[in-house]
Amino acid sequence: MNLKDLYINFFVNKNHKQIPSAPVVPENDPSVLFNTAGMQPLIPYLMGQPHPYGTKLCDYQKCIRTNDLDNIGDTYHHTFFEMLGNWSLGDYFKKEAIEWSAEFLTKELNIPKERLAVTIFAGNDLIPFDQEAHDLWIQQGIPEERICPTSDDNFWIAGDTGPCGPDTEMFYWRSNDPIPDKFDNEDERWVEIWNDVFMQYEKHQDGTITELPKKNVDTGMGVERTTAILEGKMDNYESSIWVPIINLIEEISNLPYKGNEESMRIIADHLRTAVFILADPAGIKPSNTDQGYILRRLIRRAIRHAKKLNIDINSDWEQKIAIKLIEQYNKYYSELNDNYNVILEGLKNEKIKFNRTLEKGLREFEKVSNKDIDGITAFHLFDTYGFPIELTIELANEKNLKVDIEGYNTKFKEHQELSRTASQGKFKGGLAGNSEIETRYHTATHLLNAALKVVIGPDVHQKGSNITEERMRFDFSCDHKLSDDEKQKTEELVNKWINESLDVRCDEMSKEEAINSGAECMFIEKYPDIVTVYTIGDNVSKELCGGPHVKNTSELGHFRIKKEEASSAGVRRIKAVLE
Ligand code: ALA
Repeated sequence: MNLKDLYINFFVNKNHKQIPSAPVVPENDPSVLFNTAGMQPLIPYLMGQPHPYGTKLCDYQKCIRTNDLDNIGDTYHHTFFEMLGNWSLGDYFKKEAIEWSAEFLTKELNIPKERLAVTIFAGNDLIPFDQEAHDLWIQQGIPEERICPTSDDNFWIAGDTGPCGPDTEMFYWRSNDPIPDKFDNEDERWVEIWNDVFMQYEKHQDGTITELPKKNVDTGMGVERTTAILEGKMDNYESSIWVPIINLIEEISNLPYKGNEESMRIIADHLRTAVFILADPAGIKPSNTDQGYILRRLIRRAIRHAKKLNIDINSDWEQKIAIKLIEQYNKYYSELNDNYNVILEGLKNEKIKFNRTLEKGLREFEKVSNKDIDGITAFHLFDTYGFPIELTIELANEKNLKVDIEGYNTKFKEHQELSRTASQGKFKGGLAGNSEIETRYHTATHLLNAALKVVIGPDVHQKGSNITEERMRFDFSCDHKLSDDEKQKTEELVNKWINESLDVRCDEMSKEEAINSGAECMFIEKYPDIVTVYTIGDNVSKELCGGPHVKNTSELGHFRIKKEEASSAGVRRIKAVLE
């Protein structure tokens, strides 16, 4: 059995409910581009909201971290990874968490205790030394000299604010050298494999810390790293997770992994992440902003490294790799099959777009790279040849050259300003401005959500939304294709509410009040302490939402559903317009 299955079985046997992985793009949470940890989609529940699956949960969660993209190419960084986790939401605490961690590591994974060491929280001005965690590890047979208290590394928080707490990290001796008796957490032969966070505090914007209503446990174990360790591999890319992909890249390039590790790792890693971003219900496409820009950078960097390996970049090399990745993961993530064509088309289109200019761009780079790259040149490489700035920096680094990033940013902003003015000009002739249209669509989204609950049933919940000037897109949980009758009824109901000229009211309240008042909110929404609730008419719709919205539904015009289709398993998608 592989690590993922072992882990889930273990915790299900300890009465945990397995919850599905949330999408990689957080729904309705603009503060982060991607989920970076298993706990992220669970924040509302760690803050006290009851979870529909109960108080003991476990899962494997798709995570994306792109802050150290430049490190990809070494043996252990990945932009996409899976995080295993078990949670207590006000249920068990340190005793069970540590006992089960020890049991899983030593009994299920058969790791000898001699190879294990832990860090615990040493205490600071606000929170005391974690004596309890210390004593529990001793009880589990971890000797004193293998327990290292630290203050900085043993307090876990996802960002600057939110649920947090002291943690205990478990380390594995990943070396054939003799194991030292005393654990030195600076010694890189000790690698961290699991983290149990005792999440009982909330950190606020002003730096103060208060107790959460309930004490929680949040744990995280990286699948890639732990799999490599269990298989005795020093290089993650030599573990069973990566071998099939690396072998395929060897076959396509006709080159061995040895000597070409960096490019092969980058191709494998970046294409895997791109496949998962393209498969996400958020419907991200390569672009020059936000998640779309990350996706673009990943694909383009993979193409550049394929070229370095002399792969014919116009062939279907990336399709083959993507298909292999889909086959490897579709048992766990059905969205890969559901969006099979979207993934393959998305990769192909971006490849075609970039390949048109890559060759010329590289030639241009050769021409201009007899000295450091100034901002205008870097912008020219981006604007004319589609080189993301990070690619120019990477190429420059290979030649020990510098890039004037500030100069590039200035040029980029000037350019944005110009396009913005141009697009505003387009709307001058009596049409509503961009944001007004979006505001109307935003309110229509709430009406559609409410209408679907009436027509299909109260179990319909929003799973995502996306608004452009031309249309709205709305993803919702539903187990069947809507019939023509259901579509018509939904459309009619939304238009009825529009014609009734209902007022849209915005109230600020505490999140408890909002939840108690029955306001609708999306599964993984992150709540600040004070939330805004938008109510349409006399309770036609009530949703936690940051706005903005129109003042009255009469401003919306006529609502029409253009398309209803599958988005991913159990999720349908409606595209609609206001006319
Ligand atoms: N949230 C904790 C982490 O990511 C478990 O390490």
